[in-house]
Amino acid sequence: MAEPLFTPEEQKKFDAEIAEILSHYPADRKSAAMLPALRLLQELKGWLPPEGLKLVASRLDVTPERAYEVASFYVMYHLKKPGKYVVDVCTNLSCSLWGAEKMLAYLEQKLGLKAGEANERFTLRETECLASCGTAPCLQINEDHHESLTKAKLDAIFEKLS
Ligand code: FES
Repeated sequence: MAEPLFTPEEQKKFDAEIAEILSHYPADRKSAAMLPALRLLQELKGWLPPEGLKLVASRLDVTPERAYEVASFYVMYHLKKPGKYVVDVCTNLSCSLWGAEKMLAYLEQKLGLKAGEANERFTLRETECLASCGTAPCLQINEDHHESLTKAKLDAIFEKLS
């Protein structure tokens, strides 16, 4: 038998919070609550498992495919279980001009992952502009932003991660 999606506590929280979210939208426009509903699911599970997407879809009266379409459009939603640290390396123009690809290659070697791959500890991704073009190159690790990167700075940042 498949493991249930939620623990009883998570189920209670999901039910209460999805009701609160839906209370802000007209009954015939539940689909407009997709982004906060997906955020709630990810907050509870750490990612968006397929059975969770089906549940969100059913509560919003849309197909699971529609929930997947929306979730797959935004990089902040995880369709695969992420590592403890999600490392987003900006490779847009300013960062690229300041050596982002070299930083990414260095990280790939250091973490033993290619961009787009994950293990239990790290998810390594290339990302679009992180709005720190003036202090490029930069990256984000979960919610923390790091700028003006060098290899030495990267070593110091990753050494501090538990
Ligand atoms: S191009 Fe990297 S922060 Fe803007």
